[in-house]
Amino acid sequence: HGTSTINQLGHLEIGGVDTVDIAGRFGTPVYVYDVALIRERARGFQRAFEQADVKYQVAYASKAFSCIAMVQLADEMGMSLDIVSSGELMTAKKAGFPMERVHFHGNNKSPEEIDLALDFGVGCFVLDNFYEVSLLQEKTLSKNQKVDALIRTTPGVEAHTHEYISTGQEDSKFGFDLASGQADKVIKMLKDDAYIQLRGVHSHIGSQIFDTNGFVLTVEKLFSQFTRWKEEYDFVPEILNAGGGFGIRYVEGDEPLPPEHYVADLVKAVKKEAAKADMAVPEIWIEPGRSITGDAGTTLYTVGSTKDIPGVRRYLSVDGGMTDNIRPALYQAEYEGVLANRANETAADTFAVAGKCCESGDMLMWKLPLPEVEHRDILAVFCTGAYGYSMANNYNRITRPPVVFVEDSQADLVVKGESLEDITKNDLPFRSKERV
Ligand code: LLP
Repeated sequence: HGTSTINQLGHLEIGGVDTVDIAGRFGTPVYVYDVALIRERARGFQRAFEQADVKYQVAYASKAFSCIAMVQLADEMGMSLDIVSSGELMTAKKAGFPMERVHFHGNNKSPEEIDLALDFGVGCFVLDNFYEVSLLQEKTLSKNQKVDALIRTTPGVEAHTHEYISTGQEDSKFGFDLASGQADKVIKMLKDDAYIQLRGVHSHIGSQIFDTNGFVLTVEKLFSQFTRWKEEYDFVPEILNAGGGFGIRYVEGDEPLPPEHYVADLVKAVKKEAAKADMAVPEIWIEPGRSITGDAGTTLYTVGSTKDIPGVRRYLSVDGGMTDNIRPALYQAEYEGVLANRANETAADTFAVAGKCCESGDMLMWKLPLPEVEHRDILAVFCTGAYGYSMANNYNRITRPPVVFVEDSQADLVVKGESLEDITKNDLPFRSKERV
């Protein structure tokens, strides 16, 4: 997929760059991103909105993968940016991302984070809870600063996906409940607020979703409130943000819709409900993360030790694992991969691919068909571009890998790998006088 091919040497090539060379040059593990594919995914969503002739924003959910280069690419592609913390905000700031196109999410924005966002001039707060509304009221008043806001709602729609990444149901830590009138209360609180301008509503029902039923149902549920809100509070949302969650293909059997299809069904539902309610079609925003960067990312590892348990399983261990990709351990997520240095060879057996952490659950794949594996082979694992690097960690004090962007036969290092020095750089000696 994307620009991936097998070159004359039988090596996996991405963006016109031989991945075996990337492994040699930058070491392994390393995350490799196919920039052309990221562009194509972004354009897919944007094109669909343009064809549907509605006002829109495609906000890249930077939690999926954030670094300065990625945020700059999102900007170049004309996307907006969803951030959820001061760290993601600072990344956007350092990337020079236009702050008016930044949307600030999160169920527990701290007073310091709210200050920073206001000082940077963040364009839109996605309000999540009453504490945040009061904090933002206080701060905008004291700074004499105006800001746009959306109400994050839980529409009571169950997305059929893993429980940990499902967020639309009423029993969720996120957002205001629609059914019990929590959202109404926010509308009342902000009705006469001179600083916070409530411009619309938001909902995000979950992640890795393969059909559009949940989105359509959400739109219907929202509009049933809109009609009432118009009558009771004279509040007509100008923006409907449907969140992210558009699925991608990790393994055979995953059958996501093309980006265009999600957008087309969403827009159709919004137009239909708006007509029924006799309201203007609101601006439609979405927040794709995974579907922008997920399949553009490939992780390269070096094969190290192997272990055969005759008749049971053949293990091979790679030089990374749950520290660079925690998704298999956390969600039983599945992946596919190939030997990057022998990508044209046929499989001889299936292998269980283990990471190097001291933890039995540190497995990347349980049944990967591969040729007879040799030590020092390069293993490429596909579709690691979302929630791989962004959820990377230093368990076992393992360093986080570098990130390389490839496009037009050129490889650019965009995040340096951590060094052993980095591992201890914030440590202080026992009974240190520096300790506070
Ligand atoms: N908008 C909101 C408000 C979200 O909470 C999320 C994801 C997104 C957009 C982007 O969703 P996406 O298009 O990427 O599915 N760590 C998990 C995924 C957690 C998603 C959290 N919120 C994973 O690795 O699958």
